[in-house]
Amino acid sequence: MKETLIEREHEVMFQNYRRLPIEIDRAIGTEIFDKSGKRYLDFLSGIAVNALGHSHPRIIKAIQLQAEQYLHVSNFFYQEPQIRLSEMIKKKSGMDRVYYSNSGAESFEGAIKLARLWGNEHGKHHMIAFEGGFHGRTYGPLSLMNKPLYKDGMGPFLPNMSVIPFNDIDALRKAVNDDTCAVALEFLQGEGGIMHADPAFVTELMNLKDQYNFLIIADEVQSGVGRTGSLFFFDKYLIKPDIIVMAKGIGGGLPLGAIVTTNDLAKLVDKGRHGTTYGGNSLACAAGIVVMEELYSGVMANAREMGCYLKETLHAIMEEFPDYVKEIRGCGCMQGVVLTFESAILVEELLKNGIIANSTAVKVLRVLPPLTISKKDVDEFASGLRQSLQTLIEMGVSKG
Ligand SMILES: Cc1ncc(COP(=O)(O)O)c(C=O)c1O
Repeated sequence: MKETLIEREHEVMFQNYRRLPIEIDRAIGTEIFDKSGKRYLDFLSGIAVNALGHSHPRIIKAIQLQAEQYLHVSNFFYQEPQIRLSEMIKKKSGMDRVYYSNSGAESFEGAIKLARLWGNEHGKHHMIAFEGGFHGRTYGPLSLMNKPLYKDGMGPFLPNMSVIPFNDIDALRKAVNDDTCAVALEFLQGEGGIMHADPAFVTELMNLKDQYNFLIIADEVQSGVGRTGSLFFFDKYLIKPDIIVMAKGIGGGLPLGAIVTTNDLAKLVDKGRHGTTYGGNSLACAAGIVVMEELYSGVMANAREMGCYLKETLHAIMEEFPDYVKEIRGCGCMQGVVLTFESAILVEELLKNGIIANSTAVKVLRVLPPLTISKKDVDEFASGLRQSLQTLIEMGVSKG
């Protein structure tokens, strides 16, 4: 019998994840503790899931109360948590209707199906997404992504899909025509290295939409639910997409995804056309209600305020290490530190200093703290980052 979790995992599980070498004992607020009692400051939040931090007392309470009432009954029944959460999302998003799934990929997949239904009615059959975008690992999302690591050897993918350069107005103009059914994008790319859509690019996208009449699918799985200080990142462009894809933060730590759209689009999905057994699970929706209540009771304001402080702090670090930190990108509690070297080694070094963050797009350190962080948390993160950069520099990491 193997002893450690790491040894046991190696024996029995697919080896598809690059796990950090931490055997989790418990997590609370912004902290994770391993089985040896070591404490880590968590600036990853379960990959942007734990918007309110770990084990938020109100979320635990809501789950407990709901669990005492019922766990799962299926979508054959009318359920208060689903309906209440939908009312809140409807009110705050200005959209009309909500459909629940269990994950980001599944929500994006459903958004593609919805766009296809609309496209088939309007004689439009082509969809467009952007390089650097990440939409999930099922075939629909993968067909609108260009990442070889996720796709090689897994084809064929869905037809009538193009992935074009992000923020490239000429490429967009060339790709869009009367056959365009939908354009899908993360207005703030997460996996792609915390890259936002240029305002001029978004303006052109909206002009082309007016000209050719296609749908815009906003993937807010990572950037949504208050992470950037507003409910959705696209709010900053003062535009309204046709379909919003949500997941991660909305379940407060439980699996929950959502498609949010207009009455006109939602009515294309008539009875039985789309669905899922678990989507809108009572526990996940009960947690989601707390997330929404907390967002509008100070948490989103905190994400804005602490996000600014985090950004200022990261800029100060960039000035201290100009040969190693090239750029700070992002918004609110979704920041990217662009390095001159591969971020994976910085992630390892941070871990030694008790800090959890993540590497993306090869040279970007992705920083996704809970939206509830304090100044003290940011200062602790900054001190760990300075120390880790210093150590790597002494070890001879490459300059820009
Ligand atoms: C923007 C975006 N869309 C979709 C997904 C897929 O979500 P999930 O992993 O829940 O399927 C992710 C996951 O990281 C994401 O960041």
